[in-house]
Amino acid sequence: LVHRNNDLPLVALHKETACYANAVRQSYIPSLGVILRTTDKTVWANEFEPIELTCLIESISTNNPRIEWKKIQNGVPSYVYFQNQISGDLEHRAQLIQPANLLILNTSRADTAEYRCEVAAIDDHKHFDEILISLAVRVKPVVPRCSVPVAVTVGTSSELRCLENEGFPASQYRWFRNNEELPQDPKSSPKFINSTYSINADTGGLKFRRMRKEDAGEYYCQAKNVAGHAQCPTQLMDVYDVDIVGIFLKVLAALAGFIVMMLGVCHVQKHHCFSSGKDHTGTK
Ligand SMILES: *[C@@H]1O[C@H](CO)[C@@H](O)[C@H](O)[C@H]1NC(C)=O
Ligand SMILES: *[C@@H]1O[C@H](CO)[C@@H](O)[C@H](O)[C@H]1NC(C)=O
Repeated sequence: LVHRNNDLPLVALHKETACYANAVRQSYIPSLGVILRTTDKTVWANEFEPIELTCLIESISTNNPRIEWKKIQNGVPSYVYFQNQISGDLEHRAQLIQPANLLILNTSRADTAEYRCEVAAIDDHKHFDEILISLAVRVKPVVPRCSVPVAVTVGTSSELRCLENEGFPASQYRWFRNNEELPQDPKSSPKFINSTYSINADTGGLKFRRMRKEDAGEYYCQAKNVAGHAQCPTQLMDVYDVDIVGIFLKVLAALAGFIVMMLGVCHVQKHHCFSSGKDHTGTK
């Protein structure tokens, strides 16, 4: 008991002793055995940076307890620290710090898992305790893939897309036009009030219900999470007043009409069109 509370003032010690006496009367002995504690049960780390998982031994009377760390991923446990050495995929990347903390020197995204510190002290009344810590490794987003149409027609609907899959936690997306961020809600800004777009920050979609001439510009998107951000290169989107495909089809139709008409003229003028070059006036 004294061992456990050697940082407490004497008054507190007396109080603790009283509690202990009560506990004994209830035939439950809380402190004659291993008790573990951690400063954080949920730990976040940045990829490629060190992190320490704390396994503090609050109470123990055995001098040489057996300490083990296990990594539990998708319900499957594997040894991380066993028989006084680091093993498994943390080998050469981690070390044990007194009393039983696990220091990972260079975290990787594959370290995201639950870790269990287990301490066995055979001579203690309560001879075993364990503590579970969940570690999540933050990963910076990579450059997202963006799709921006080169040309769209006024009045039509269109969607611009942006996505990356590496970031953890999952990225949130923001869109920029001519280096200015598009507000989440166009109605919130006088400059964008007539625009019909909506942004889905989770999926990266920028959807226009009806394109306007003013929506043309240089677009890029940014993926962001707590670990960092990345953006795709700027892409130009033009908005045309009229349907260029429609115009092309009309021109094609006009051309076809012209050819048919010419054939008709030729037919009326009989053989003049197809006669040989000796009579050039006929081709008029
Ligand atoms: C951490 O690991 C990565 C590869 O997983 C490596 O590229 C990097 O150099 C390492 N950093 C340190 C500080 O060891
Ligand atoms: C939005 O539309 C209204 C009505 O057509 C117009 O008066 C206003 O100038 C427009 N605002 C912008 C920023 O284009």
